[in-house]
Amino acid sequence: MKITRTNALKGTVSVPGDKSISHRSVMLGSIADGITEVHHFLQGADCLSSIACFRQMGIHIENDGNIVRIHGQGLHGLKSPSDVLDTGNSGTTTRLMSGILSGQNFECVINGDASIQSRPMKRIITPLSMMGASIESLRGNDCAPLKITGQKLHGIHYDSPVSSAQVKSAILLAGLYAEGETSVTEPVLSRNHTELMLKGCGGDITSVGTTATLRPVKRLEAQKIVVPGDISSAAYFMAAGLIVPSSEICIENVGINPTRDGMIRVCQAMGGDIKLENVHEVCGEPVADIIVRHSSLHGTVVEGEIIPTLIDELPIIAVMAAFAEGQTIIRDAAELKVKESDRIAVMSENLTAMGVDVTPTDDGMIINGGKIPHGAQIQSHLDHRIAMSFAVAALASEGETEIIGSDCVNISYPTFYRDLFQLAK
Ligand code: S3P
Repeated sequence: MKITRTNALKGTVSVPGDKSISHRSVMLGSIADGITEVHHFLQGADCLSSIACFRQMGIHIENDGNIVRIHGQGLHGLKSPSDVLDTGNSGTTTRLMSGILSGQNFECVINGDASIQSRPMKRIITPLSMMGASIESLRGNDCAPLKITGQKLHGIHYDSPVSSAQVKSAILLAGLYAEGETSVTEPVLSRNHTELMLKGCGGDITSVGTTATLRPVKRLEAQKIVVPGDISSAAYFMAAGLIVPSSEICIENVGINPTRDGMIRVCQAMGGDIKLENVHEVCGEPVADIIVRHSSLHGTVVEGEIIPTLIDELPIIAVMAAFAEGQTIIRDAAELKVKESDRIAVMSENLTAMGVDVTPTDDGMIINGGKIPHGAQIQSHLDHRIAMSFAVAALASEGETEIIGSDCVNISYPTFYRDLFQLAK
């Protein structure tokens, strides 16, 4: 993909459904009783991996390209898959599904692509094993492929060393199959979509501060789910509207759950003109339209409790920092190193290629911004968020930018380039 500067971005965009919520709808829908109907389901490769895995376990799932119908078979209705469960590039599928598989009465192997095979799984193997699960990393490196042999589980209290919704959710989903109560405390609250959706389908779950507590129930009920637009996808349009001169964009129907809204707060802290309109609630999740206008940005510090609420937005925040006057410091974000790529290294490498003054650190980056970057060849490392971040950077930079491996946006946002370019004036 080759991209050059644009004069302005104007108009309205509606981003695809939330990736985290779409995954959870497949998983909870499969183990609920009855048909779960999901509207505005994200048709990205990651969520399609979740659908494919549950189909392999005997769940009938209809997908017409927008509405997905999952014919749930109840908590004990999954069937032993005849082949390896392929989770593709999806950490969410791999980790959350491991929680469910730990409590089944069959054995299976889950595996994914090269990126998944290098992502840390010890973070789920440890707590799930404490619950009685049998999980073996087949190459002995605490990564996938994982062989999971279903066991009788018992509830635990787990003090998680990381604020990770994937870890928390894996434990809570295993807790559905455990004897007694299961609770997870995390250092800072991570996204709470699992808790909200479990509550919506009759799960017995309470959240107090950073602790979620689940008691097993006999059955989960199918529900109708309307998935809000993904704030992690909307983030590219927020940044593009702020950095491309003369822009004014409305991003419709975006989920603004407080455990996900850090991007909005950082844009405002950088001096961005960004406003919420039409705030309302859909299926227990807050939703709004986001209006963004070009602004002169200044640097900021992104650290501490806000990090889990914008963890996937840090690459695009780093791009905004390059266009902002002064220094931006990102810290407390060592998790970036174990995402789809090492996002500290990959952002630093690519920003440097565009002439930006960036210094990688152990847990983030320091960016001295304010000088218009120049076009360059960008290595996406097949990380969707890297490709999208630099597509946005290219729209406000001098010269031409070429993104290598640009198709990887299919993971979370198949129509990204079309949606972005239709705003260019
Ligand atoms: C996700 C949680 C986050 C996020 C990922 C999706 C989820 O990962 O980065 O894209 O759906 O639970 P961690 O839980 O590993 O931080």
